[in-house]
Amino acid sequence: MTSKLLCAAFVLAALLLSITFSLQPDQQKVLLVSFDGFRWDYLYRVPTPHFHHVMKHGVRVKQVTNIFITKTYPNHYTLVTGLFAENHGVVANDMFDPMLNKSFSLDNMNIYDSEFWEEATPIWITNQRAGHASGAAMWPGTDVKIHESFPAHYMPYNASVSFEERVAKIIEWFTSKEPINLGLLYWEDPDDMGHHLGPDSPLMGPVISDIDNKLGYLMQMLKKANLWDTLNLIITSDHGMTQCSEERVIELDQYLDKDLYLLIDGSPVAAILPKEGKFDEVYEALAHAHPNLTVYKKEEIPERWHYKYNNRVQPIIAVADEGWHILQNKSEGLMLGNHGYDNALAEMHPIFLAHGPAFRKNFTKEAMSSTDLYPLLCHLLSIPAMPHNGSLRRVQDLLSSTTPRKMAHTQSPPLHRGHGKPGEHEQESNAYFIGVTLGSIIVIVFFIIFFKHLILSQIPALPSMQGEIAQPLLQA
Ligand SMILES: *[C@@H]1O[C@H](CO)[C@@H](O)[C@H](O)[C@H]1NC(C)=O
Ligand SMILES: *[C@@H]1O[C@H](CO)[C@@H](O)[C@H](O)[C@H]1NC(C)=O
Ligand SMILES: *[C@@H]1O[C@H](CO)[C@@H](O)[C@H](O)[C@H]1NC(C)=O
Ligand SMILES: *[C@@H]1O[C@H](CO)[C@@H](O)[C@H](O)[C@H]1NC(C)=O
Ligand SMILES: *[C@@H]1O[C@H](CO)[C@@H](O)[C@H](O)[C@H]1NC(C)=O
Ligand SMILES: *[C@@H]1O[C@H](CO)[C@@H](O)[C@H](O)[C@H]1NC(C)=O
Ligand SMILES: [Zn+2]
Repeated sequence: MTSKLLCAAFVLAALLLSITFSLQPDQQKVLLVSFDGFRWDYLYRVPTPHFHHVMKHGVRVKQVTNIFITKTYPNHYTLVTGLFAENHGVVANDMFDPMLNKSFSLDNMNIYDSEFWEEATPIWITNQRAGHASGAAMWPGTDVKIHESFPAHYMPYNASVSFEERVAKIIEWFTSKEPINLGLLYWEDPDDMGHHLGPDSPLMGPVISDIDNKLGYLMQMLKKANLWDTLNLIITSDHGMTQCSEERVIELDQYLDKDLYLLIDGSPVAAILPKEGKFDEVYEALAHAHPNLTVYKKEEIPERWHYKYNNRVQPIIAVADEGWHILQNKSEGLMLGNHGYDNALAEMHPIFLAHGPAFRKNFTKEAMSSTDLYPLLCHLLSIPAMPHNGSLRRVQDLLSSTTPRKMAHTQSPPLHRGHGKPGEHEQESNAYFIGVTLGSIIVIVFFIIFFKHLILSQIPALPSMQGEIAQPLLQA
């Protein structure tokens, strides 16, 4: 009898532990959302009640320094790798790799060549290598096979698929039998309309309101799926936007014979590949061509851009001053808004908000680097970080509590480069205590049933007696 009891107690203790720890991943759900081209100050252009709700009950960072060049693909890849462009290899939306002798072009959606992505390992893969599942709704690169793998769930890129459909997929994956712990959601606006109208246009007001409504829809769906209180939602963007004008155009054909070079990427950072033997001629022609164009030989590119040490950075880059547009000739169309400029410019900076059990409430932080998001994500997911250029320490004040979480310490140490230390894993864990409480209740209930059964089994007459008592009642 005693050995039976001990055995049962042991099983129940194991059950308690497994319940406790199986609740842990609930704390580690992360949904990362990018609204392309959402400039940091759009939040105050028109009323944005949903964004403000998130801020009031979560955190906001005012100035996020993104990476050079301030374009979509380079920055989205930084958000999920923590690396500068020269290190993750997606140096532009349009690239040529002389070693591979291959081109990459967003304009032609010619982006599915794995080799362009494989200088880094994005978080959706690292997360899966750690035994979890990732799900992506059109986040750039998530429908590309990278290091032989895809996210467990993803949508092939199709700009016509509505925001609502993307949200529906994300919710489905978070609530499925084998749920994802990391979701990535991408939406093309306000970038598209920002290019078209220019950020200074009063017509941007309704565009921003529409994004706020979309966030409202996402919040509503998360609440409906009982995810709102347990999931860590991070809302950010790749870059901002600045106003351009017909009066601020730099026409390369005016200074340079277009047969002397290939224009790999256009504006506002012209990536120039001189033809064989034409380097000096091209450089001399451009170097002092226009007061609003700064021309760099590759080795002269400022260190602070971390944009030099990669084959895909062309021998000459010509960078336009803010609001200036580079064209080969004026027959090309002109956009009223653009980005890609120096990442030190505030207009190029994106938003950053977060809400969820891991984050503080109603907290505003002045500044961070977009490379810091990656170690933060790894921390939230309790997965080891690949080498990166960010720092968890620099963003740790966004987190709600300093209660050490036991599970995280047992993970293999992250391969941080100098910054975050593995012992830094700290997180509140309400679910942990809920788990303990719930587990204890289950154990007590189990013991009550167990003892009741034990007592009953020692009085063999009782069940038939009960039957006899019951019968008259049933017949009545
Ligand atoms: C690079 O590829 C092009 C075709 O895309 C080919 O014509 C050319 O010969 C290749 N160059 C080298 C050096 O292999
Ligand atoms: C893209 O999505 C739209 C809307 O859902 C659909 O009609 C269209 O067939 C899709 N295109 C491709 C190539 O899948
Ligand atoms: C463009 O160049 C002119 C002349 O050097 C300068 O005064 C102006 O500030 C520049 N524009 C920008 C946006 O830097
Ligand atoms: C203008 O530039 C585009 C490429 O940007 C080229 O296709 C077109 O032929 C050029 N037009 C003239 C008149 O040079
Ligand atoms: C949020 O913080 C600000 C100042 O940091 C304070 O004025 C405001 O009352 C706070 N709001 C709430 C809802 O706590
Ligand atoms: C960025 O991180 C990569 C990977 O750890 C490293 O090789 C590179 O030197 C770092 N860059 C800087 C400027 O620290
Ligand atoms: Zn854009």
